[in-house]
Amino acid sequence: DLPRFVKIVEVGPRDGLQNEKSTVPTSVKIELIHKLVASGLSVVEATSFVSPKWVPQLADAKDVLQGIRHVPDVRFPVLTPNLRGFEAAVAAGAKEVAVFASASESFSKSNINCTIEESLARYRDVVTSAKKHGIRIRGYVSCVVGCPVEGAIHPSKVAYVAKELYDMGCSEISLGDTIGVGTPGKVVAMLEAVLSFVPLDKLAVHFHDTYGQALANILVSLQMGINIVDSSVSGLGGCPYAKGATGNVATEDVVYMLHGLGIETKVDLNKLMDAGDYISNHLGRPSGSKTTTALHKL
Ligand code: HMG
Ligand code: MG
Repeated sequence: DLPRFVKIVEVGPRDGLQNEKSTVPTSVKIELIHKLVASGLSVVEATSFVSPKWVPQLADAKDVLQGIRHVPDVRFPVLTPNLRGFEAAVAAGAKEVAVFASASESFSKSNINCTIEESLARYRDVVTSAKKHGIRIRGYVSCVVGCPVEGAIHPSKVAYVAKELYDMGCSEISLGDTIGVGTPGKVVAMLEAVLSFVPLDKLAVHFHDTYGQALANILVSLQMGINIVDSSVSGLGGCPYAKGATGNVATEDVVYMLHGLGIETKVDLNKLMDAGDYISNHLGRPSGSKTTTALHKL
């Protein structure tokens, strides 16, 4: 049975803009987030408190949070790779954070410069501190189907990292096909492995559309009962440490599919497309959403 409601976690301002060659001005990021909120999205991942040497595109994290502080009733999680990032995020007013581990040892090294076990140890410290502050924490697992260096990743590795993040106190686990190599059969096998350790209602799926499989992968995830989906307006994104990976699945396309299935999202597709047009115009390239392209031609 398909879920009646799906919560969309919009990751464009973070997962999308972290990968742009030119840095997007802070004011444009803030305006984009306001437009996303205006479309009805209730969770917008806003930025990352990571090393500016690693991700210069998000070096303005504090100012972005400052610019959306007054927005009521919307959750704005931010990525924190370590205790230092967590403390900076809290000082800047973050009420919700996300830690990001990998199911691939090589990707862990290239993305956060440590082993999987070292990352889990760091994240335990972040979770301990988050609990003290009453801050909600999301856990990501990346490379859940494949890794740019190691190739196929076994579902048991994904299940292990997901279990560790869940057991340490992450309230939601997002499973990321970082390079978009997954196909529906592989995704089902991976989800089955994870479901042995993490309850269904705590799982989110995060697909990149490199091979055009994202919507199919989302559909099989929904059929398994998952009702939290990450996506990126206009299909912004990629991954700086995963060469060739394209953007996340476009939020517009996810909303179009979900509404077509009779699933509620609380998102207004037209207003969402306005947000997509705004950032596409700024970046000077066409939208990565097929739905937007089609509707603009009508
Ligand atoms: P490192 O170089 O191993 O650590 O980086 P370090 O402790 O030596 O720190 C290096 C420099 O950064 C130092 O500055 C630190 O002070 C500073 P210096 O002394 O050289 O001037 N630093 C920080 N600055 C600001 N905020 C911080 C922070 N921590 C240290 N929090 C580190 C290790 C983890 C910091 C680095 O590798 C990093 O920031 N990585 C983040 C990379 C990133 O954001 N990648 C994209 C995430 S997307 C993803 O993971 C997948 C996902 O989208 C899901 C999917 O698609 O599948 C979530
Ligand atoms: Mg991603």
